[in-house]
Amino acid sequence: MHFESDRITRLILAASKKAHRETGASPDSRIVKIVEWPVTCTVGPGLEGAIACESKVGYVNGAQGGLSYRGYDIFDLCAHSNYEEVCFLLLIGNLPSKAELRGFSDKLRDYLHIPDVLRQLAGFPIERMNPMAALRLGTNLMRHEQTDLDFLRGKADEAKIGTDEDSIPMETLPRGEEHAIYEFRRRQPIRDRNLAACCRLISGVASMAAAIARMREGHLPLAPDPELSYAGNVLYMTSGERPSAEETRIMDVALILHADHGMNASTFAALVVASTLADVYSSVSAGIGALTGPLHGGANEQVMHMLRGIGSVANVKPWVKATLAEKKRVMGFGHRVYKVYDPRARVLAPLAALSGRGKVANKGLFQIAAALETEIASRLGKKGIFPNVDFYSGLVYTGLGISERMFTPMFAVSRVAGWTARILEYLKNNRIFRPRVMYSGAVDRHYVPIAARRPARRKKR
Ligand code: SDX
Repeated sequence: MHFESDRITRLILAASKKAHRETGASPDSRIVKIVEWPVTCTVGPGLEGAIACESKVGYVNGAQGGLSYRGYDIFDLCAHSNYEEVCFLLLIGNLPSKAELRGFSDKLRDYLHIPDVLRQLAGFPIERMNPMAALRLGTNLMRHEQTDLDFLRGKADEAKIGTDEDSIPMETLPRGEEHAIYEFRRRQPIRDRNLAACCRLISGVASMAAAIARMREGHLPLAPDPELSYAGNVLYMTSGERPSAEETRIMDVALILHADHGMNASTFAALVVASTLADVYSSVSAGIGALTGPLHGGANEQVMHMLRGIGSVANVKPWVKATLAEKKRVMGFGHRVYKVYDPRARVLAPLAALSGRGKVANKGLFQIAAALETEIASRLGKKGIFPNVDFYSGLVYTGLGISERMFTPMFAVSRVAGWTARILEYLKNNRIFRPRVMYSGAVDRHYVPIAARRPARRKKR
């Protein structure tokens, strides 16, 4: 899809070489295997170490800083694929043929048109809302589209669409029941209907994020441009300007990098809702809710504030010394799974340098970020603290003209692919999530009528 001569492809392949040289990339046999339930695992707080399910969608190799989607290395996908193809790969499980990709990309482009949802959304005070709350609201407004649950509900004769009067042009006289021809809507298997809803969400959430960005600035939403790709339309519908080929390519790579990432908090939230057989819109809305938390989504926004706060390369060392002395977290660093360099940060770093070039908003920030990365890695590398996906993504988005409040919505736009791919997969062999809880409270207390109660003794603080 992209030529080796392409400057961005060269940067990605160079990052790939460096990654594989520094950390290797052989699958970790401890977690790449078929699960024989029930399994024994050591579980820490926050379900750390717990195995939620088995999956073929994507694999995060935390020990060696590897990431793959359906077995394809993330560096290869960034160098040679595009977001539409990666969505097909995550949802369907294999790379598409030319015709399949054309049809799928056309469908995603069609689904970018959600005028009635945007009309309803415009009725809310979007400019005063948290953008992720607005995105969640819009996702629920999309729910009025027919989903699998609606089909399941109207069941029995749902498939029957009519007798000969309906299926033959009405100018012919009805010939009576004995001549009735019952045509049945080709009953799409549940998966097809859910697949259509997943594609609607992959595009609808993108259109809503772009519309929310514009409404926050007092502009009207824009319709997609049929000449542009998915990534190109995300930028165009957000800014109102058609992006350059290089800006489109950078956005496309950022969308690929954020598409899926194992059982992170928002994916798990989406799966828990899906496991109750709620519709896929409710599941994606739950994923957006989970991503709203600053420990998961939003760190890239904090990184930009942090870099501006440091202010200069000379100030990096004293800032790090003071921050670590106060046991504070450095945003954009550390990860629950990666204990080496996050492969996504390896790709985003050179793109941040490229997209920010000449942009006033990024002036000098990339140099501060590079100095901070060196300082933190030298002091915390031994604890497995390295840059994660959020450390450079804010600089990339700023270079593309995306406002800081829209960073996390853009993360959600991309992650709808991973959320929905894992929902489709899990529903094939669904079991409602219901972990246990250890009770450590009081037992055998006797009820005391209110008249006989004495004020509780205040525990000394
Ligand atoms: C994402 O799960 C996913 O895959 C998420 C994600 C995805 O694609 O979906 O990758 C996206 O969420 C990226 C992470 C974005 N968040 C941040 O950048 C916020 C800053 N990072 C930290 O809050 C932290 O690193 C976490 C939450 C990301 C991970 O924390 P862990 O694995 O629970 O680590 P921990 O809290 O057990 O800390 C272990 C040690 C502690 O030191 P000690 O108490 O042992 O001395 O590491 C230290 C921590 O203080 N530490 C950090 C640090 N992160 C951990 N010290 C300084 N700065 C940090 N950022």
